[in-house]
Amino acid sequence: MDGDLEEIISAVKFYIDLEKESGMAEFFSKDESLLATKPVKEDLETLKKEVLKCEACELSRTRRNVVFGSGNPHAALMFIGEAPGEDEDIQGLPFVGRAGQLLTRIIEAMGMKRSDVYIANILKCRPPNNRSPLPSEILACRENVKRQIEIIRPKVICALGKFASQTLLNADKPISALRGKFYEYEGIKVMPTFHPAYLLRNPQDKKLVWEDMKKIKKELDKN
Ligand code: URA
Ligand code: URA
Repeated sequence: MDGDLEEIISAVKFYIDLEKESGMAEFFSKDESLLATKPVKEDLETLKKEVLKCEACELSRTRRNVVFGSGNPHAALMFIGEAPGEDEDIQGLPFVGRAGQLLTRIIEAMGMKRSDVYIANILKCRPPNNRSPLPSEILACRENVKRQIEIIRPKVICALGKFASQTLLNADKPISALRGKFYEYEGIKVMPTFHPAYLLRNPQDKKLVWEDMKKIKKELDKN
């Protein structure tokens, strides 16, 4: 038995020496800064800290709060809207105004809670007077939502309205032509649908959104 143990110890020592030889000294170092350079999957909190300081576009001068996103970081379903409105800018949270209340009801009608899903926007800062996002603002901000999606890796993304749908799908068709079908974004299924703010003005189209939500539910319920 003792002989076996010695053999194991010497084999391990040999292996460690070999690893040191091949440039893996940082594994044996007590230097925390070296340990921190080991590849670690970026997490949502780290990204959030970075985005909260963002000054990549002019919206950083007029925003009250950056609206990073909120919800379950392990969500199977992610909703992506356009940009924060006034209520979101004040609270620093996505979809908390009138359109947000409708989104909450849509999520609950699907048999889920807001805390089950993750909610974010393409733009993290409010455009003044709720004007539409500028192409330059989308360009400056789209990396943030891309990284959020990479970290969360949901099963399905529901793109709310024209801007989220066209941005994620790199498409220029109107939302009425895009909605109701699944597309792919980095291997993740994307369902474009009408924006809840549009539904507040056009309640007759709620039934179309409900058709789209049923398709999402069916996809989430698979295996
Ligand atoms: N509209 C959006 O697109 N996003 C929000 O967070 C609120 C309203
Ligand atoms: N325009 C948008 O931006 N979104 C909709 O859902 C409908 C019209």
